[in-house]
Amino acid sequence: MLQSSLAPPSHLHCTNLYSVPSLPPLCSLPLSFSSSSISFGRRRCRRLSFGVHVDTHFSINPEPKGLRVSCAISEPLKVMISGAPASGKGTQCEMIVQKFGLVHISTGDLLRSEVSSGSEIGNKAKEYMDTGRLVPDEVVIMMVTTRISQEDAKEKGWLLDGFPRTFAQAQSLEKLKIRPDVYIVLDVPDQILIDRCVGRRVDPVTGKIYHLKFFPPENEEIKARLVTRSDDTEEKVKSRLEIYKKNAEAILSTYSTIMNKVDGNHSKDEVFKAIDSLLSKVQKDKENMMKLEKSIRASERLSNLASSSQENWRGIPTRLNNIPHSREIRTYFYDDVLQATQRAVNDGRTRLKVEINIPELNPEMDVYRIGTLMELVRVLALSFADDGKHVKVCVQGSMGEGALAGMPLQLAGTRKILEFMDWGDYGAKGTFINIGSIGSKEVEEQDDLFILVAPQNAVGNCIIDDLKAMTDAAGNRPVILVNPRLKDLPGSSGIMQTMGRDKRLEYAASFENCYFFRLLYYAGTQYPIMGAIRMSYPYRYELYKRVDESFGKEKYIILTTSSERPNIDEINDAFIGKPRSEAKKATGFWGFLSGIL
Ligand code: AP5
Repeated sequence: MLQSSLAPPSHLHCTNLYSVPSLPPLCSLPLSFSSSSISFGRRRCRRLSFGVHVDTHFSINPEPKGLRVSCAISEPLKVMISGAPASGKGTQCEMIVQKFGLVHISTGDLLRSEVSSGSEIGNKAKEYMDTGRLVPDEVVIMMVTTRISQEDAKEKGWLLDGFPRTFAQAQSLEKLKIRPDVYIVLDVPDQILIDRCVGRRVDPVTGKIYHLKFFPPENEEIKARLVTRSDDTEEKVKSRLEIYKKNAEAILSTYSTIMNKVDGNHSKDEVFKAIDSLLSKVQKDKENMMKLEKSIRASERLSNLASSSQENWRGIPTRLNNIPHSREIRTYFYDDVLQATQRAVNDGRTRLKVEINIPELNPEMDVYRIGTLMELVRVLALSFADDGKHVKVCVQGSMGEGALAGMPLQLAGTRKILEFMDWGDYGAKGTFINIGSIGSKEVEEQDDLFILVAPQNAVGNCIIDDLKAMTDAAGNRPVILVNPRLKDLPGSSGIMQTMGRDKRLEYAASFENCYFFRLLYYAGTQYPIMGAIRMSYPYRYELYKRVDESFGKEKYIILTTSSERPNIDEINDAFIGKPRSEAKKATGFWGFLSGIL
């Protein structure tokens, strides 16, 4: 497609395609220039013509020296510079290339090189240039689009000088979706332009631009070899200026949103200072924009991953600090837990734990709503019973004896509640669902699956030994712990049960999470909610940040996912956007999550 639209007019076809081996191929298009006339990159090549044919090997795109600002890796800078004849485009381009390392593409340079080589294109273009007129659009469009699609321009970025000069030229780029990041217009009063043109001299050896008054040559030797461009007479400059003005408006309509006028009526260093700060800013903005786009894309990928982790996953419900939770919120979490647990059991997992710390079920809160826990257990038990499994729901009784018996506060009365609960109209209780306590004696042959309600150590009493005896008896039947608290607690005498402690804790840790949900707060507080961690078997841990929106709304946005539960440092880093490779201990203000994990 590109090829056909850019095919050169037959009368402009040249021979001698790529005959100098050291030159990069100009393009894959049928366009060909005579090799000695190719003039890319720096303006130094352009000054080799002016009707004087200089047979020389050009240095193609010599590496710019000095400081080079590296553009964002994937998308380098793209710049257009425009301005009236002699406004200083060429002079500034030399400096821009030096600093930003862009590939300089000047239509004036390319054409003058064609002229100097005596190529067919050059001969044709000369007629126009000598009279200060514009060379036909199709010629320059082909030259530029060919050059701009070369690898170096794509890699390093480009600096288009003297193109586009007509509406048709601008549109040709638009059609190919070639758009600059910034369009610079050098603004210089007419009279100054004429003085600059008439006094301009160029060194055909170095390509350096001089001005008899403003930038005189360094010595007599250079002065003696300077040449004047054939179009630099006052009369021709006036006509070029007129043509420029006629076309300038038409081009502006294409680039008005990215146009930046720079006052070119200052010393060249001052003008460059303004351009430099403009380009640096554009470059920075571009990098930031790309980073933002990248993080949005990553976030979208993570969201897709998170949402695919569950068919009905609707994201984390809001207003979670309002207690009691609405029925909808409770149902939402019951479903979430159920799906994860079912997946794990269907996958043959046998030692599972569900940890859900919504405010109603957070033991750190003033109220632990046992009814919510019971509802959750009922949803799980009924669902497995529906699948034809015999489920035993177990809750630990008082531990120890007599006046020394211990009972975790939140479990007081639980067994009774379980007995009285509504287990459905189909007579599931007593058949497919049975209530028991924790210990090996409870394991019967008919049981297919055990749900243990919040097993936990009580002060001075450890449930882990009973639990272990029970799982040993259960063999490879699934045992699901719902909100266990199996840390060794100090006894009322202040002494930990140390005998076999390591082994007990190792056993407690052998249960794998099939579901995990926890809200995140500043250390030592339960308000405001900063974010949440969720894991639903078999998917990864998802770390969310809570974000306030307008009109009192809020939402949770996913920051990252991980195969292991993120630790405090990892959470802090994700919240402040620090990549993990720079992992360091989080300190100060951002140590906020340490109190609850
Ligand atoms: P082209 O070479 O592009 O010429 P131009 O646009 O007329 O620009 P100049 O090269 O004359 O000036 P400049 O702005 O680069 O200024 P410079 O830095 O040299 O095009 C030539 C011809 O090719 C056209 O007329 C046309 O025929 C054809 N052509 C090109 N592109 C085309 C296209 N797209 N479509 C159709 N035809 C096309 O500076 C000028 C002088 O001022 C120098 O002496 C310099 O030393 C001095 N100077 C520079 N800056 C300062 C300063 N800040 N203070 C004092 N002096 C300064």
